[in-house]
Amino acid sequence: MPKSVLVTGGAGFIGSNFVSYFCRKYPDYFVINLDKLTYAGNLENVRDCEGLENYLFVKGDICDEALVTRLFKEHDIRGVIHFAAESHVDNSIKGPRIFAETNVMGTLNLLDVARKHWMDAPGRVKPGYEEARFHHISTDEVYGTLGEEGYFYETTPYAPNSPYSASKAGSDFLVRAYHHTYGLNVTTSNCSNNYGPRQHPEKLIPLIISNALKEKPLPVYGKGINVRDWLYVLDHCKAVDLIFHKGVSGETYNIGGHNERNNITIVKTICAILDGKRPRSGGRRYEELIAFVKDRAGHDLRYAINADKLTRELGWHADENFDTGIVKTVDWYLENLPEVA
Ligand SMILES: NC(=O)c1ccc[n+]([C@@H]2O[C@H](COP(=O)([O-])OP(=O)(O)OC[C@H]3O[C@@H](n4cnc5c(N)ncnc54)[C@H](O)[C@@H]3O)[C@@H](O)[C@H]2O)c1
Repeated sequence: MPKSVLVTGGAGFIGSNFVSYFCRKYPDYFVINLDKLTYAGNLENVRDCEGLENYLFVKGDICDEALVTRLFKEHDIRGVIHFAAESHVDNSIKGPRIFAETNVMGTLNLLDVARKHWMDAPGRVKPGYEEARFHHISTDEVYGTLGEEGYFYETTPYAPNSPYSASKAGSDFLVRAYHHTYGLNVTTSNCSNNYGPRQHPEKLIPLIISNALKEKPLPVYGKGINVRDWLYVLDHCKAVDLIFHKGVSGETYNIGGHNERNNITIVKTICAILDGKRPRSGGRRYEELIAFVKDRAGHDLRYAINADKLTRELGWHADENFDTGIVKTVDWYLENLPEVA
């Protein structure tokens, strides 16, 4: 009988890239994609999985205990890979409540249903469920902000600064607690900023590409000096696959590509690529559209991940670097943005 794996949030940016990759890599798994289809979820993102025999989409909320319990029972779920979240920092500043509900309470609900399905009592796994694992996807933002030097390690104390990162930190602690209290088989990964196909246009890279092609201003927060460590989405998916299968229960793994760039460099890089691929009329350059806007409240200066543990212990390395990944990404949006294709 195929092993059933529940993937949450698989209609969003990273989840959809993951589901497409995972269903094809593991034809023996039955992959159930549970997604509420909030504004951030889009079934177009997983159109290429429709019709696969080992794939099922279920529209629903990770907070819905009855639904999640039914899915566990009906499919005898043996693995959870949990992407679903409210994910946009700006939205969390405007309306934090839904971030606590989805990211904290939703994670708690999934953990608790998994515990009841896989375990008889604290420390006692039901016979046959020894391999059943819960993998939780988190972010480097839980570690707070860095100065110009240094990196986030798995041992860096948590210091979340936005309602988004605070809610993710809360979910990470619940995952940790389910391992320490009940002995649930869990792993967690904390990843840096992702980029690539299928990202929601509210996020920096697709927003810049889309605005540029529409000749609209390219908004850059503050002076554009905030630094993020950028990882191509497929490299994140491969790392999650590796940790889900080979990671040590109870452990946390940082994922990052050592590709630190500040925002203004990202925007100028995209402009230069577009100048080559879709030149503006009259010899103008896309860079001329850059518009500096009021900085985000509480904007963290710099994130940078040290992913040595994942490389050393599980052999992971990123296949893409930023210079190659960003060209692929721009090409994808040029072909797929409805307004410019
Ligand atoms: N995007 C990044 O750069 C990044 C970096 C590190 C970690 N992460 C984490 O990776 C995960 C995925 O991020 P993303 O960028 O793909 O997010 P996204 O916003 O693109 O997608 C989130 C998905 O979750 C779904 N969802 C939201 N609430 C739900 C609920 N209550 N029940 C079921 N589904 C629900 C949405 O419909 C959407 O499809 C998140 O946990 C995020 O914290 C993201």
